[in-house]
Amino acid sequence: MTPGQPFSEEYELEFKALKYIARIQNTFTEINDIQIQIIRFIQLIFKADEVILFTFENESRDTVLKRLLGNRDYWIYQSSINLDKSTIRQAITTKKVIEIPTILAGDYFNNEVDSAPGLDVRRICSIPILSGEQVFGGVNLLNHQDSPLSEEKLEILDCLVSSLANGLDSYQKYQALRTKNINLETGRLEILSSRDTLRALFDNIPASLYIVDQAFNLLAINKSRADRAFLLPNSIVGHKCYEKLFGLNEICAGCRVLDTINSGRQTSRIQRQWLDDEQYIEWEISTFPIQNAKYRTNQSIIFEQDITEKRHLEANLIQSEKLAAVGQLAAGVAHEINNPLAAIIANAQLLLKETPLEDKDTRDSLQLIEIAGSRASQVVKNLLGLARKEEYDFVRLDINETILNAISLVQHEINSHQLKIILKLKDNLPPAFASRDHIQGVWINLLMNAIDAVDVENGEITISSDYQDKEFQIVIADNGKGIPPNKLMRIFEPFYTTKSAGRGTGLGLSVCNRIIKKHSGMIAAESILGQGSRFIVTLPGSASFKVTGSLTE
Ligand SMILES: Nc1ncnc2c1ncn2[C@@H]1O[C@H](COP(=O)(O)OP(=O)(O)O)[C@@H](O)[C@H]1O
Ligand SMILES: [Mg+2]
Repeated sequence: MTPGQPFSEEYELEFKALKYIARIQNTFTEINDIQIQIIRFIQLIFKADEVILFTFENESRDTVLKRLLGNRDYWIYQSSINLDKSTIRQAITTKKVIEIPTILAGDYFNNEVDSAPGLDVRRICSIPILSGEQVFGGVNLLNHQDSPLSEEKLEILDCLVSSLANGLDSYQKYQALRTKNINLETGRLEILSSRDTLRALFDNIPASLYIVDQAFNLLAINKSRADRAFLLPNSIVGHKCYEKLFGLNEICAGCRVLDTINSGRQTSRIQRQWLDDEQYIEWEISTFPIQNAKYRTNQSIIFEQDITEKRHLEANLIQSEKLAAVGQLAAGVAHEINNPLAAIIANAQLLLKETPLEDKDTRDSLQLIEIAGSRASQVVKNLLGLARKEEYDFVRLDINETILNAISLVQHEINSHQLKIILKLKDNLPPAFASRDHIQGVWINLLMNAIDAVDVENGEITISSDYQDKEFQIVIADNGKGIPPNKLMRIFEPFYTTKSAGRGTGLGLSVCNRIIKKHSGMIAAESILGQGSRFIVTLPGSASFKVTGSLTE
């Protein structure tokens, strides 16, 4: 071509095609548009009657998608076919261009595969679409005239088909990347969601949980533990655990974190945290190893659990077991004592009746025998009540009457201690539903304790009864020596006594507690050291009373 000469139509087309190809690399065009555009160029430049595009549809490459443009800008024909024996298949498998008159192609020319409907093909050119070693499909150029392509034309053809291959290659790579990206994004979301679930779990566990490394730096801490230190989790992560959680300058005494990190084993220890008033919280502190990717332990989880309650329950259980054993023994002994005791009391009363009033000394002695016998009898009753199955006989009764009866039974004691009894019993109480002997036993026990506690000089015991909000409330208060706070919580324990061996068994209040519970009621104690104590019993009104379990137990 001479410079200055205008481009022929053909050159112009080739130039346009090359420009388009150059642009493909930079623009982001849909793969389908690239395919249409390039096939269109091929058709125009080579003046082919028809150009067919074959592309592999799937990985297994058993079928191809055959597409034709006709004279349009869109596919007028597309169909999935099997390549069978054909010129295009030969070009694809040998990765070579086949340019041949159909007469010479012989039975390699397959009209079904290689040609277009209604076309009498004389010359065929089958080109594989190759990018490097990878084959994406092929292109068939069909002509009804048998005129071969020039070297120059074949080169242009090669260039156009290579661009097609590059386009397909980028497209495939882009698709693969997109899938990878989607998978990654899905994975990321999954991780985020499981992280949130874990965090919620971590924070909502009522126990205290935190993670530290070898240098005692806090790596994570749950809300319960941070709350205990009155701090926000984020404000202490990264700091030393002993500084932020325990206010120390060095690691805590007894800390087992390093044991766990060095040995990879879990540890557990108990530690008491002392509060005011001799109270304490008992913590079970466990450490668990966390391994890194190389199976080396480099972090530890610390789990702190408040087991104070559990300990109390365990202690109570041990107490009840002890009690069961002692109770069985006591029941036997109590039975043995009961009969001689009854004989002693009965005989003392008999003799008292027969002794003339003037014989004061004898009468006093006999009275003392009776009082001592009755007191011993109450102890035996308490023991028996604890050990054997108690027969509860629930009846409608007047609470005030049971109180007065109880007072009369301890009248001797009251007299001999010269105590003042103040009664504040509410008139016209509704009837209660209770087991008479048992409820009377409760008042006797509370009265005896009050008598033991008050000062002989000006001892005072106030007994009141009331009925409000469908509940009876009976209060037995004294102005005795009182109970120190640390002992107050133990007085209902069986065998807990501060009295000398002959004077107390430690069973009175625990029996009271059991009896009141049987009546669906409650018993509580209040005391001020040196000023006195109050025992408050509440019992449900008969309308709301529910018998727990069977009446006889
Ligand atoms: N009213 C009271 N004032 C002071 N201490 C009391 C009073 N009632 C009970 N206690 C204390 O509770 C302990 C347990 O009482 P209790 O179970 O009746 O056993 P006991 O009377 O045999 O010791 C007593 O030893 C005493 O220390
Ligand atoms: Mg007692």
